[in-house]
Amino acid sequence: MIGFKNKTVWVTGASSGIGKALAIQFSKLGANVVLSSRKESDLKEVEKQCQSNTFVLPLDLSFQDNFNELVKKVSDQFGHIDVLINNGGISQRSLASDTTLEVDRKLMEVNYFGTVGLTKAVLPVMQKQKSGHIITISSLSGKFGFFLRSAYSAAKFAQVGFFESLRLEEEKNNILISMVFPGFVRTNISQNALSGDGEKHGKLDNNQEKGISPKKCAQDIINGILDEKHEIYTGGKEILMVKVKRFLPRLFYKILRKQSGT
Ligand SMILES: NC(=O)c1ccc[n+]([C@@H]2O[C@H](COP(=O)([O-])OP(=O)(O)OC[C@H]3O[C@@H](n4cnc5c(N)ncnc54)[C@H](OP(=O)(O)O)[C@@H]3O)[C@@H](O)[C@H]2O)c1
Repeated sequence: MIGFKNKTVWVTGASSGIGKALAIQFSKLGANVVLSSRKESDLKEVEKQCQSNTFVLPLDLSFQDNFNELVKKVSDQFGHIDVLINNGGISQRSLASDTTLEVDRKLMEVNYFGTVGLTKAVLPVMQKQKSGHIITISSLSGKFGFFLRSAYSAAKFAQVGFFESLRLEEEKNNILISMVFPGFVRTNISQNALSGDGEKHGKLDNNQEKGISPKKCAQDIINGILDEKHEIYTGGKEILMVKVKRFLPRLFYKILRKQSGT
């Protein structure tokens, strides 16, 4: 893809954090930006900061029944869907042994089935166009498990398996697949994370506080999309742990064991 001018870019989780920063950056690049998440009023606030054509389209990733309808609305509005950014999601802050199965399911429903459901609804449009780029925001937790992240990590690993398969299958239709693995980014992700009983964690964690800005994260993602990278990494020195795990697995566990999950 040469640039984003007049391309339709659909961003989920556009009301906050990384998705909000992506929506604003894409609008600066002249894209038609579709802003989706649950909170319509927050999406409208983000829309005010956008400079190009926008379309606020509320959706709940845990309710997949209306996704085909939503895809039709975007197609009717802009005629084509060039980029889908599966960014919306929730995290977790609880020991596996303290986490109800209901919370495990909720994390899978939003982060995995919501993402897969929307992707499957958009795919026929991209297949017909014989072009498209689907980008999914996984996490370092999609590369290795971490304290207090059992359900989150499982959902983020599951995304990787799905999209690596999809990449092989859809190459013939000229549909690109990129996975993003952010480290720590200063957003509301820890406040919105679920505790073991499903209540909100409600705290800004140390790691998040020291993380990179959503704007820097969004710029790294956009650069990676332009380079058509299969895997995009963004964050601080924590992203080195992916290489440490691969090449020095004993050292990896030694370092990881000393961390806390917050
Ligand atoms: N921040 C980090 O350090 C970090 C690191 C690695 C990966 N990530 C990933 O980055 C993505 C964005 O997170 P963020 O850090 O920007 O956190 P955030 O500020 O909490 O934003 C999360 C976004 O997801 C939306 N969302 C949550 N549940 C939803 C649902 N059921 N249906 C539709 N939208 C929903 C929220 O909007 P509404 O509340 O309006 O629905 C919000 O726009 C997530 O997938 C997260 O796992 C973040």
